[in-house]
Amino acid sequence: MATADTCTHEDASLAENGYLDDGTIECGLHLARFEAATGKALSYPAEVDLTTYAVKVENGDVFVDVAS
Ligand code: FES
Repeated sequence: MATADTCTHEDASLAENGYLDDGTIECGLHLARFEAATGKALSYPAEVDLTTYAVKVENGDVFVDVAS
């Protein structure tokens, strides 16, 4: 599973402002936390889960299904 990059609290890139630690993504702006495996919002001020995308690996290549 892959997640969207944008925090659901405000328009902030989690890749640029966030931290991944022990399976949890923390937004660096206002410290909302999300479960990395599911995108589930774990703490205020995020109230909406991250969008998630299916991922598969074939012959060493990683494919992320962003169309569905
Ligand atoms: S923008 Fe991510 S917690 Fe506010």
